[in-house]
Amino acid sequence: MIKLILPYIETKRLILRAIKRSDATDVFEYAKLPNVGPKAGWEPHKQIEETHEFINYSIKKTDFGQPGLFAIIHKASSKLIGTIEIHSYKEYKGEIGFVLHPKFWNQGLITEASKAVIIYGMEILNLRRLEYCHFDDNIQSKRVCEKLEFTFEGILRNKYLLYDGTVLDDITYSIISEDYFNNKISWVKSFKKDLFIDY
Ligand SMILES: CC(C)(COP(=O)(O)OP(=O)(O)OC[C@H]1O[C@@H](n2cnc3c(N)ncnc32)[C@H](O)[C@@H]1OP(=O)(O)O)[C@@H](O)C(=O)NCCC(=O)NCCS
Repeated sequence: MIKLILPYIETKRLILRAIKRSDATDVFEYAKLPNVGPKAGWEPHKQIEETHEFINYSIKKTDFGQPGLFAIIHKASSKLIGTIEIHSYKEYKGEIGFVLHPKFWNQGLITEASKAVIIYGMEILNLRRLEYCHFDDNIQSKRVCEKLEFTFEGILRNKYLLYDGTVLDDITYSIISEDYFNNKISWVKSFKKDLFIDY
């Protein structure tokens, strides 16, 4: 198995780089909030030890062929404001997942980070399929998905078992390599003007 190396990525307003153990304080700042983790399927962190465990687990996943977790750094404030990753990676496919500190919501920042990660997924990981899933009530996530031009595929009923025992439907979308390389995703060309990827 080849161990993947996460690239260093810069967009107009963000830096994406591999998560580090020393990022725990910044991650805990939003991971403890009640309106963040549950929307993505995980329980808010009660203590910083849980954040340390989460970061260790994310770093360890690269030992098992996963690309790993990007920290999202806001250039203007030099602050870690969220994370983004391609998880459930299997050489030809993966699923994009992300989370952002609420102080930075609604500025287009996850859309910007996701565009960079989609380009990385399609052009460096050579994915044939990138999935995107959200719960029914996650309006922001649905909107991000529309802006990224994912194609709606369907509702996977009772797909997700939440930490509190609730079973939820997953609304599922994808971008496939044919969409991407046949120029069906309209933002790619212009976004690349402000993109730097060091691999
Ligand atoms: C989902 C999340 C990452 C979005 O990050 P973000 O940087 O705020 O996203 P963007 O700014 O790129 O886009 C958000 C869009 O939702 C829209 N939006 C926000 N609240 C809304 C509401 N109540 N109703 C309708 N639209 C809403 C915004 O207006 C924006 O759309 P626009 O650019 O057309 O105006 C962030 O809300 C988050 O971290 N949520 C908790 C974790 C989570 O849900 N992760 C994803 C799991 S699938």
